[in-house]
Order: sequence, then C-alpha cells, then structure tokens
Amino acid sequence: TYVVTDNCIACKYTDCVEVCPVDCFYEGENMLVIHPDECIDCGVCEPECPADAIRPDTEPDMENWVEFNRKYSEAWPVIITKKDQLPEAEALDGTPNKLESHFS
Ligand code: SF4
Ligand code: F3S
Repeated sequence: TYVVTDNCIACKYTDCVEVCPVDCFYEGENMLVIHPDECIDCGVCEPECPADAIRPDTEPDMENWVEFNRKYSEAWPVIITKKDQLPEAEALDGTPNKLESHFS
C-alpha cells in the first residue's frame, strides 16, 4: 500500500485525490490519509503530491504510518475532488515532525 505521511499535515494540496482510480483518500481537518486495504498499489498518486508526502510502505519505518492511515481512514469522509491547499501550505512545506506541532 501507499500511505500519506508527515509533510501532508498543514499543506493538504489534494492533487492526489484526482488521480486515484479507487477513491481511497479520506479527509481530515489538516491532512489526508489513504485506506491501506483499499489502495491497489498503483503508485500514480506518489508523483502528484507537491509536498512529496505519499510513500510506499516498503520504505523503512512505515509501520506507524500504515496504522495511522488505517485508523483515520475509518473515521474520516472520503474525498474525490481537489480543493484549495491550506493557507500556510507553502510556508510549512518541509517543516519537520508536523505530527507533533501541526496535527489537529
Ligand atoms: Fe490510490 Fe494508487 Fe495512490 Fe493507492 S497508490 S492511493 S490506489 S492512486
Ligand atoms: Fe497531502 Fe500531498 Fe495529497 S500534501 S493532500 S498527500 S497531494
């Protein structure tokens, strides 16, 4: 599966949702997640993210992000249409460890 990781937080560009063939992105207040059981591993969303926040779970230390994506995809509504990025997206792109400082 692919998962959404830290740098989506407070950016939420949403370009990713337009290309997913199975509509498996879910929207929280300041980030999106992917449902790991619905993702078919096609990989087309990864290069679409301006914040480079979408990663394959084959990369090291992704277990926590897979569980995070699963947990919130079961709680949040599906999103299938792009919307404007968050106001501070460009300013906060690349801020380390947003999960602690900017997730709500
Ligand atoms: Fe959707 Fe493919 Fe991205 Fe999975 S890898 S979230 S199926 S676009
Ligand atoms: Fe987030 Fe990137 Fe999508 S910032 S909303 S994963 S395009």
